[in-house]
Amino acid sequence: MRQWRIVYPNWGILHRGSNWGLMHYLITGGCGFIGSHFVRLLLAEDAQCEVSNVDLLTYAGREENLEDVIAVHADRYHFFKKDIADGAVMRGVFECGKFDAIINFAAESHVDRSISDPDRFVQTNVVGTANLVGLAREFNVARFIQVSTDEVYGSLQAEDESFTETTPLSPSSPYSASKAGADLLALAAHRTFGQDVIITRCSNNYGPCQFPEKLIPLMISRALAGEELPVYGDGGNVRDWIHVGDHCRGILATLENGKSGEVYNFGADCERTNLEIVREILKILDKPESLISFVKDRPGHDWRYAINSAKARNELDWSPKRDFGSGLRETIEYYRAER
Ligand SMILES: NC(=O)c1ccc[n+]([C@@H]2O[C@H](COP(=O)([O-])OP(=O)(O)OC[C@H]3O[C@@H](n4cnc5c(N)ncnc54)[C@H](O)[C@@H]3O)[C@@H](O)[C@H]2O)c1
Repeated sequence: MRQWRIVYPNWGILHRGSNWGLMHYLITGGCGFIGSHFVRLLLAEDAQCEVSNVDLLTYAGREENLEDVIAVHADRYHFFKKDIADGAVMRGVFECGKFDAIINFAAESHVDRSISDPDRFVQTNVVGTANLVGLAREFNVARFIQVSTDEVYGSLQAEDESFTETTPLSPSSPYSASKAGADLLALAAHRTFGQDVIITRCSNNYGPCQFPEKLIPLMISRALAGEELPVYGDGGNVRDWIHVGDHCRGILATLENGKSGEVYNFGADCERTNLEIVREILKILDKPESLISFVKDRPGHDWRYAINSAKARNELDWSPKRDFGSGLRETIEYYRAER
């Protein structure tokens, strides 16, 4: 007998037909940092679903992130090494199976790389998302979740209120501009075609399996190797941190309870300056602060992000569970074991 571990209250169509098979999710970017945690969560939470993962395996994608999960769930996990920006190739993927929902994690995600190669970001983040939204509509996929970022809102001053879902978009970098473009294309598909599309915007994630170019894994890796820790400017830029597991539970709650056409912010009210983060890592590793080296600031470097996630907390029955201190120690242990 078919069992629904996940209930979709807004999705009448999914409850209607007994001819519907088990849920089949298309995850893009499932070998990356957040996507791999989400695939892991989905396979654990919905014991009967199928997951198809489309990932180009760029420098940021690692099949090893899912090795142990795939070994256990090989019968309901399918992998496609494909480029979401290639419409013809992606059409072939959609012809392979009937997907009930798409969760789009695939992206170029590093701000520094977007400054040196913006075209790649337009291709993957804008063209890739447009392809997926169009194919989802053509192939009658019931729900499309676009995983976005608080960086689309731009930068805050110290005294500003945190970002809400109605804060105007004001991206600063080619990365955040390409994510904002993708969000607007996805929302336009809802308004124009009535397509079931939801946007999630999350603050900075940390946790195991992140490619060591972003602040936390980079600083941990360099500190473990006894190398210099390069900090932009005076290290005063503020980021709002959330554990990747809390973000993934938020996306799952959006899939289950989110309202079509809406935007939901996710964050854990954990603002820290970059310098505070670096010092905390050095303290846990018992390394000297003399390893810190201040380097020329990144152009257009956003000063502060802070996110208000009251809407997700009130409407999606979601709240973050992990405290930063224990999450950071767990992350450090992961990178220590990886060496
Ligand atoms: N990391 C964060 O702090 C954070 C915060 C908020 C939102 N986000 C968003 O979450 C999503 C995932 O971020 P992440 O940190 O896991 O990124 P990541 O860079 O770790 O992973 C991206 C994945 O996408 C894949 N990919 C890249 N281009 C592709 C293409 N053209 N076709 C198919 N696959 C492709 C990569 O191989 C990789 O596996 C992104 O959309 C990002 O904007 C990230």
